[in-house]
Amino acid sequence: MRALFRLIVQIALAGAAAAAPALAAANDGAIHPGQIWPDDKGVHINAHGGGVMRYGDTYYWYGEHKVGGDAGNSAYVGIHVYTSKDLLSWKDAGIALAISGDTTHDLSKGSIIERPKVIFNAKTRKFVMWFHLDFKGLGYKSSRSGVAVADKPLGPFTYLHSFLPNAGVWPVNIREDEKDPSKSPIARDHDGGQFARDMTLFVDDDGTAYHVYASEDNHTLHVSRLTDDYTRPSGKYARILEGGDNEAPVLFKKGGKYYLIASGLSGWAPNAARSYVADAIFGPWTSLGNPVRGTQEQMDTTFGGQGTHIIPYKGGFIFMADIWRPQNAIDGRYLWLPLSWEDGKPVLRWQDSWRLDQVSGRR
Ligand code: GAL
Repeated sequence: MRALFRLIVQIALAGAAAAAPALAAANDGAIHPGQIWPDDKGVHINAHGGGVMRYGDTYYWYGEHKVGGDAGNSAYVGIHVYTSKDLLSWKDAGIALAISGDTTHDLSKGSIIERPKVIFNAKTRKFVMWFHLDFKGLGYKSSRSGVAVADKPLGPFTYLHSFLPNAGVWPVNIREDEKDPSKSPIARDHDGGQFARDMTLFVDDDGTAYHVYASEDNHTLHVSRLTDDYTRPSGKYARILEGGDNEAPVLFKKGGKYYLIASGLSGWAPNAARSYVADAIFGPWTSLGNPVRGTQEQMDTTFGGQGTHIIPYKGGFIFMADIWRPQNAIDGRYLWLPLSWEDGKPVLRWQDSWRLDQVSGRR
């Protein structure tokens, strides 16, 4: 009996020791890229491929709620939201957009709902969420954009619609020879709407919002201006970095210039990030090369992560990326790093842990 008791105590202590570094991570005032990030209940934050929106004095982190195993690569719960006042301690605020129990619904269990982003529309006073949607059972074949709206940042968000964006319209910078459907995916998809996978949203200084999505079979990004209420494409869009094989777009603006950090195409496996700059959001965009500074391996893999969003913070920026764990999706990690500048280029350096006062607007 005593031996059994000792064994139980040993197991409990071993468990506590294993959990200790993770819990410490949340409470020491620092960000720990790649580690377990416990929420207010001590549970690893479940908001993958996400984005952070600031509204009032609160930050809202929206992301894909993943379940365990490879099932977690599909949606079974919905879009999770967490709140924070300091970007360090996050409170679980539940599911902002729920998956439907109805098997015929667009957002049914087993569909793919990725990379949700939320923006606030000052005119309609609605919170608008966009995400990449693939209908259940079709893998990544549908490649659609979904939109949901809410009156409050925590939701509940109501699903509005999904579509292939920009059906029937040519981008502002199409060439005549590209309008032949046998020659280009953009012409192939002209009538039905464009292929749209990895995506982000960006609101410019004048309140105009853009949907940036990987299109044309993932080979070319589109920057698509939204309607004034942010719920649809306006019909004005541009192809950027044509044939550049960019996805996981992250867009930000500094000193009147637009910056983009993207990944290459290798599914869940990490690859080298790329960065670009432009004077106008529709381009032309110029390459600034790999933003990662560090070892060859860090440069080749972006520290094992893939970008998802960027948080403007005190004149500077925090780059948010995911370290995917497709075999056990719920265990995916968050890679947040402060962005710094080198010769006018945005750069990222690895840090085991860092504090928010390292974020600076200095260039
Ligand atoms: C990545 C993409 C992820 C997910 C994954 C599926 O390239 O960035 O959001 O779609 O592929 O393999």
